[in-house]
Amino acid sequence: MTNKSTIQVLISEEDITKRIQSLAVEIAAINPRKLLVIPVLKGSFMFAADLIRAMHRAGLSPDVEFIQLSSYRKAKVSSGQVDIVKDIESSVEDRDILLLDDILESGRTLAYAKDLLSARGAASVLTCVLLEKPHKRAVQITPDFVGFECPDQFVVGYGMDVAHSLRELPFVGIMI
Ligand code: IMP
Ligand code: MG
Repeated sequence: MTNKSTIQVLISEEDITKRIQSLAVEIAAINPRKLLVIPVLKGSFMFAADLIRAMHRAGLSPDVEFIQLSSYRKAKVSSGQVDIVKDIESSVEDRDILLLDDILESGRTLAYAKDLLSARGAASVLTCVLLEKPHKRAVQITPDFVGFECPDQFVVGYGMDVAHSLRELPFVGIMI
C-alpha cells in the first residue's frame, strides 16, 4: 500500500537477528521454571517467532500462548484504555511467564497484561520488548529485557503496522 521509498531503516535485519540471539541467552540465564511465553498480538508476532526460535537454540523449551490486547486501534496515539480481544487458554498458576511485546510506549498495554497474569496466580511475570520509547511512559513499568531503545517517532515494520500495513518489512523503519 504505502510507498516504501518513504521508509528509512532504523534497525537493520542483521542487527535485529544479533540482538535477539543475545536476548535469548539473557532469558535462558534466569533459568525460568515451567516457562510460558505470551506474545501480545498483533505487533509482536515477528519478534516472537524469531525470539522463540532463538530461545530454543539457547536451550529453553517454553510453552507458547497468545493474548491480543487493544489499546491502540487505528490511531497513531494510544487511547488510554486496554481491552482483551483474545485471551490465553492455559492456566498461568505457579508458572514463570514471559510477556513479549513489540514496543513499550505509555506502558499501559504491558502493565495491564502483567497485572492480569499476576492476579491469576503466575509465579512471576517478566516482560521483554523489542523496542522501548523511554520518554513516553504514562504508567510505572520497567521491562526486564529490552532489545533496543527507540526514538520518540512512529516506527513500522518487523510486525509493527500503520493501519495493518507494513508489518512485512524485515527491518524496523521510520516513516519520513
Ligand atoms: P503502550 O500501551 O502505549 O505502551 O502501547 C504499546 C503498543 O502501541 C505497542 O504494542 C504497539 O502495538 C503500539 N505502538 C506504540 N508505538 C508504536 C509505533 O511507533 N509504531 C507502531 N505501533 C506502535
Ligand atoms: Mg501491540
